[in-house]
Amino acid sequence: MNQRAIRPPAEEVYSAELQALATHDTSERPPGWRLSPQAVRGFVCGDPKLNVPRKFYGDDILVERAIVGLAGNRGLLLTGEPGTAKSMLSELLAAAISGCSTNTIQGSAGTTDDQIKYSWNYALLLAKGPSLEALVPAPLYIGMDQGVIVRFEEITRCPPEIQDTLVSVLSEKLLMVPELRTGDRVLLAKPGFNVIATANTRDRGVHEMSSALKRRFNFETVHPIQDFAMEVELVARECRRLLADSAAPAEPEAGAIETLVAVFQDLRTGRTSDAVPVERPSAVMSTAEAVSVAMAAGLDAFYYGKKKLTADFIGRHISTAVLKDNVDDLGKLKQYFDVVVRERGQKLGGPWAALWKARKYLR
Ligand SMILES: Nc1ncnc2c1ncn2[C@@H]1O[C@H](COP(=O)(O)OP(=O)(O)OP(=O)(O)O)[C@@H](O)[C@H]1O
Ligand SMILES: [Mg+2]
Repeated sequence: MNQRAIRPPAEEVYSAELQALATHDTSERPPGWRLSPQAVRGFVCGDPKLNVPRKFYGDDILVERAIVGLAGNRGLLLTGEPGTAKSMLSELLAAAISGCSTNTIQGSAGTTDDQIKYSWNYALLLAKGPSLEALVPAPLYIGMDQGVIVRFEEITRCPPEIQDTLVSVLSEKLLMVPELRTGDRVLLAKPGFNVIATANTRDRGVHEMSSALKRRFNFETVHPIQDFAMEVELVARECRRLLADSAAPAEPEAGAIETLVAVFQDLRTGRTSDAVPVERPSAVMSTAEAVSVAMAAGLDAFYYGKKKLTADFIGRHISTAVLKDNVDDLGKLKQYFDVVVRERGQKLGGPWAALWKARKYLR
């Protein structure tokens, strides 16, 4: 039986890198941190000296600001379009700073106070009354008690009164448990405790954040990758890794991933690299979606093709990323093919010509 989890947490996947960074880390560490801010940056943005590859592609200054804010004990809120690696960045930071990225609250309309702070083992509560023994800690209690990061995913999906649980905790760094005896009633946060929250700008308006809570967070907006070569490198690497994990290692043909990323960048920005305006679909053309198209194309090529990920297979799957809930997007995608893909196919041939031939799969 295969015992490995489908997706182990970052501290497990990168345990050797975290170990190497800790061993060579000679810089000062903020209280309660496993690594210095320099080593945390090296883990996220890559450290060639220690053979640690880059994991987050984009704005390194944003990463530095995020780390410094956390070192200053302010909460961090990563906001931005879907699929811009907000959750990934929060996971990597928690893994590097606390050695644990799984102390996580998943925000939803149904999130309750109990799921954030603590709840009770009712059998023990009835038998012995309220005591520390009967208390079942939730991520916020665990983070404060053990001095580790709490990740709060999709915080704006929670009703405002639930979000506001964090207001006093973030400023006072203490949590009251009124049910307990006087000596146990106040939990004081240990150094290393902090909160990294994420919120998706497309979900804004589900619930606004109170201004009191906003003031307790440093906001960082994560943007889609703009650099073409960087996005190609990321999509190719992620696609190879995911296909290898699925035991379907189809190899991308030269130029196939470049073609996919070019299509995504054109549709995301609403203009081609030659500055020709194109109609933007309403769907999010995120890097994460590009990775899933490449992955689906690779699986298709592995099982039904000749194990080569060609642009033809990309053409078969591209509509799954663009066509979500707006029927007009199909027309926009077809028009992009008719204007841009056709011309590039004629001029450049190769993967663009293969992609143009796959227009018939757009439906
Ligand atoms: N700048 C980037 N650097 C590295 N990976 C990226 C980047 N942008 C997107 N990705 C890819 O996108 C995947 C999904 O990202 P993630 O789930 O963290 O996005 P998100 O911003 O949390 O999205 P959502 O708002 O939908 O929750 C990552 O695992 C990675 O493969
Ligand atoms: Mg996310």
